[in-house]
Amino acid sequence: MGRVADKARVSGFNAPHCGSLRASDEGRDVELYGWVARRRDHGGVTFIDLRDRWGAVQVVLRNVDAEVRLEYVVRVKGKVSRRPAGSENPKMETGEVEVVADELEVINVSETPPFPIEDPEEPDEKTRLEYRYLDLRRPPMTQMLVLRNRVNRIIRDYMEEREFVEVETPILTRSSPSGARDFLVPSRLHPGSFYALPQAPQMLKQLLMVSGLMRYYQIARCFRDENLRADRQPEFTQLDVEMSFCDEEDVFSLMEGLFAELWREILGVELTVPFPRLDIKESYLRYGSDKPDLRYDLEIADLGGVLGGTKAEIFRKVLASGGVVRGMSVPSGKDMSRRELDELVTVAKGAGGQGLAWLPGPLDKFLSEEERDAISRATGARDGDLVLLVADRRRKAETVMGLIRQDVARRRKLVRKDEWKFLWINPTYLFEEDDQGHLTYAHHPFTRPFADDMAFVAERPYDVRAHAYDIVCNGYELGGGSLRIYDPRMQEQVFQLLGMPLDLIRERFGTLLEAFTYGVPPHGGIAPGIDRIVMMLGGTDNIRDVIAFPKTQSMSDLMLGAPSEVDSQQLDELRIRVVPPPKSGS
Ligand code: AMO
Repeated sequence: MGRVADKARVSGFNAPHCGSLRASDEGRDVELYGWVARRRDHGGVTFIDLRDRWGAVQVVLRNVDAEVRLEYVVRVKGKVSRRPAGSENPKMETGEVEVVADELEVINVSETPPFPIEDPEEPDEKTRLEYRYLDLRRPPMTQMLVLRNRVNRIIRDYMEEREFVEVETPILTRSSPSGARDFLVPSRLHPGSFYALPQAPQMLKQLLMVSGLMRYYQIARCFRDENLRADRQPEFTQLDVEMSFCDEEDVFSLMEGLFAELWREILGVELTVPFPRLDIKESYLRYGSDKPDLRYDLEIADLGGVLGGTKAEIFRKVLASGGVVRGMSVPSGKDMSRRELDELVTVAKGAGGQGLAWLPGPLDKFLSEEERDAISRATGARDGDLVLLVADRRRKAETVMGLIRQDVARRRKLVRKDEWKFLWINPTYLFEEDDQGHLTYAHHPFTRPFADDMAFVAERPYDVRAHAYDIVCNGYELGGGSLRIYDPRMQEQVFQLLGMPLDLIRERFGTLLEAFTYGVPPHGGIAPGIDRIVMMLGGTDNIRDVIAFPKTQSMSDLMLGAPSEVDSQQLDELRIRVVPPPKSGS
């Protein structure tokens, strides 16, 4: 057991950083504070690596009481010297130097951690999340927190330079018109009433435009009770932006400038601006997705025209019933094994598709030579390529083809990993079909339609374009936004088309509609997700890696044990009675 400092005056706050020592510090007397990251004994000499937030440095202990173990907290006094020739460590930033200690004090001891902090191998995620405070001690995780802080700082500087004002909007608020479920907070003083946590400060930022703030931003915490995926958390952070008297071009160039700055400052990468724009219908057609990854070339073609008169039963039937046939050529795909193709069929079926066909393949005999040639031309297939085909209802065919496209790119290593493919999905459309085939809003009911398109809204509502946009990079949706309606007549028309009853409109949007009668400027905004931006910049595809204390896939905090039951007195005060969940099987 090492000596534990008792009531020692410990102030290493202004001490040099372990991780910052370099050859230029040679000869310097230093006092260092940190954790023991490694320890090696070499006949009378002990080497430890001492770690702090900035990195680690090798410390040499000769004739020093060295009863230290991994993760002990220590203070070391010594002199910086160059490492003997040949023993430099190019893998460490401090690898040219070491600190020869003449004093070592154990400030605190440590149990053996549940996983080695320095192991390059990642511990299993459950243990990481249970002991998150130790997981964050692992250098790559510490660096992720530091990176996130840099991103926030660059964002704040950028927005401040452009005279945006950061306003904090409430967390205890009212249900907002977004797509997900709300998290509710019961009110003690108003029994039976609930606050909702904001899914986004959407209405409030629009109200701030009525207030005349003109340029608002917030690094805003949002809460959505929705099914989680690798890039979703129930609690996440947006750079929420709203601006008055702007058009789409203003929003685009503001954001392009910000992304260019982030990528330049953090990765040293010069992004090409402006970002290309892609109509959302075209995005679905060509890439089977509203967030296409353009780091690979695979493109989907519509084969409806080519197969218009086909005798092949499976295509004829689908086309006759209003469906579509889509195809994609896989370069050199003829060498794909039957097993690989079966796996792709499983992907297609997993997405609710009927299956997948391919050419050349068993289908050949059902198609004429002209049809096969036309399919090759439409998909750009050459000798040695394989064409994958899907016939289904349009939405299904697009989803399936989009997933197949991703899968093929991954398994055939077609993704150019060093590229950053930013694009705007714009324009989008005002309405979409809900699961019951009814008209619903695609973004939110305040999204401004193209004024000219409203002339044909009654006949072709799904063709009405909207001033809405998503920013996409490498297959991730990084942000979304729109210009908003500021003309009450247009707003009324949209509500009517949506078939929303007046009382529902009043209940959900009354405040905003009333506010809009007091001089509302034209306005619009956007909200990029900060977690996803940090994921991209930090090179991870797991959103939990960029959030200090995240939730699991089943929305639990394994470290603190949340959610948890509360004592009955708290429930009584809130006048809440918990109905036990039904027993499974009943
Ligand atoms: P939207 O709902 O498209 O728009 O969200 C904007 C961005 O927020 C991020 N995001 C998430 N990140 C992590 N976990 C989640 N569960 C999650 N949900 C969304 C994404 C997404 O692109 N108020 C509008 C914006 C506006 O119109 O100005 C809004 O919230 O990066």
